[in-house]
Amino acid sequence: MMEMYETHTHDVIVIGAGGAGLRVAIEVSAQGASVGLVCKSLLGKAHTVMAEGGIAAALANVDAGDDWETHFCDTMRGGKMLNNWRMAQLHAQEAPDRVKELERWGALFDRTKEGRIMQRAFGGHTWKRLCHVGDRTGLEMLRTLQDKGVHSGIDVYMECTITDILKDGDRVAGAMGYWRESGKFVVFPTKAIVLATGGIGKIYKVTSNSWEYTGDGQCLAYSAGAELIDMEAVQFHPTGMIWPPSVKGILVTEAVRGEGGILRNSEGQRFMEKYDPENMELSTRDVVARAIYTEVQEGRGSTHGGAYLDISHKDSEIVKRKLPSMYHQFMDFADIDITKAPMEVFPTTHYIMGGVRVEAETGRSTVPGLFAAGEVAGGMHGSNRLGGNSLSDLLVFGRRAGMGAAEYAKGVDAGSLKIDESQIELNEKELLAPFENTGGQNPYTIHQELQDIMQAYFGVFRTEERLQQGIEELAKLRVKASVLTIEGSRIYNPGWHLCRDLKSMLIVSEAIGRTALLRKESRGAHSRVDYPDSDNENWGKVNTVICKHGDEMKVDTSPLPEMPDELKRLFTEVK
Ligand code: FUM
Repeated sequence: MMEMYETHTHDVIVIGAGGAGLRVAIEVSAQGASVGLVCKSLLGKAHTVMAEGGIAAALANVDAGDDWETHFCDTMRGGKMLNNWRMAQLHAQEAPDRVKELERWGALFDRTKEGRIMQRAFGGHTWKRLCHVGDRTGLEMLRTLQDKGVHSGIDVYMECTITDILKDGDRVAGAMGYWRESGKFVVFPTKAIVLATGGIGKIYKVTSNSWEYTGDGQCLAYSAGAELIDMEAVQFHPTGMIWPPSVKGILVTEAVRGEGGILRNSEGQRFMEKYDPENMELSTRDVVARAIYTEVQEGRGSTHGGAYLDISHKDSEIVKRKLPSMYHQFMDFADIDITKAPMEVFPTTHYIMGGVRVEAETGRSTVPGLFAAGEVAGGMHGSNRLGGNSLSDLLVFGRRAGMGAAEYAKGVDAGSLKIDESQIELNEKELLAPFENTGGQNPYTIHQELQDIMQAYFGVFRTEERLQQGIEELAKLRVKASVLTIEGSRIYNPGWHLCRDLKSMLIVSEAIGRTALLRKESRGAHSRVDYPDSDNENWGKVNTVICKHGDEMKVDTSPLPEMPDELKRLFTEVK
């Protein structure tokens, strides 16, 4: 049966070609293994560009006091200590080398007067730590990684959606997918897979994410038997655009606040004084998002129901130089000159801290041969990510997962792997069902309903009652979505593509809902109005865990790994 399919065989298949996927693929190739990089979209079209304001690394170029220990403590404190301590340690220790490596590969960072890489302030970072390229840091990183990648002997498969991980017993043996253009199926026999598919933003109505971010990797991992941790931890970036409606959710970089931007309510009050007088606008994202949300709820919102973010008190030439994208974004989309008038902003779904449970050193998941890196992996950021730590995360753990997967692949004899072909048959049948079904639901309607539910019940503030209601709504929606109908052919049919994406989105949404209900405390981005405090003695010591048992989603907890004493000591020594 395999003969019927187009096949491409590699030692390692990387799914997702944003910053994480590219860094993984570069490393796999450097380790001498053959690598195929598969992406749903075009190479370089990735959410990495939405980390605009900088990459966090304790280079101490601007603030000499910085070091990896402080970065580690900031990251753990920002994540409310739910982080995998080993990941946070490796990240803080290795981020400076990864930034310098990127520079050697051609990234052009802004410079200090002395010619060193410039660093700026961001929320939750003790020192000026974010290396940046104006407000286009993610874009410059992607450009550099792409250049490096295409010269590294990587085979790139663009506009190809992976729909299933194929296994031989417990082990990974391949991946199946379809070409978005022709709708034809394709099989990638492989010894190891690295998931680097990014986030889940499209399950929400208001998001900084673009159409690709439908929780594909989380769903592939879950379906293959891997564990997902801390899925309740969804990051609402405090500042998304709110007006006009067509651009609602588009990111307004934290660099605006890093460069001195001030938040005000409709009464002209600098309201962060009430919520975090010490750090003000540079408080952590969870705190600033809640503050803006509360101001609006209590009737002090801006004209279009957000907060005012003002940088017009700064020199206009500096604003244009430091924040060129923001200047053009507001000028072109909202007809606002940010050097003269305030922006209007409101929280937007930006990132998920939870994800595939991985081993810190190698990115290995709980399924042999399956690895994950970047946003799709959980643990690194605990319950709240500090801005700029995603870019350093994807470089540090992209490299590590690349090494881990290449090493694993070396130990697997390709001849010993047999793909159970019934998996392919089953997957194909499931994928083609919407063409056969009559009277089923329209996938676009289901997607809209899903976004409404997630926005209404699983947002910035949560309560038992609303979570329970939301979970019931999701269950009803899953029943409706079990029969989808689509017209037309398999040739470039976005409605058909959405049918498969909905499967991922519904699984991820259920995982978020059920873990949010389970965690009866507030921690980082997970804010329970009915449990406003953090319960460090109980919930602070466990991850929530999701895994598949037959057709059921099992929800549980597991203890956090114990932090060694030499790291614990840092929290009393490092201010
Ligand atoms: O606001 C920003 O520039 C986003 C950065 C990030 O998410 O790390």
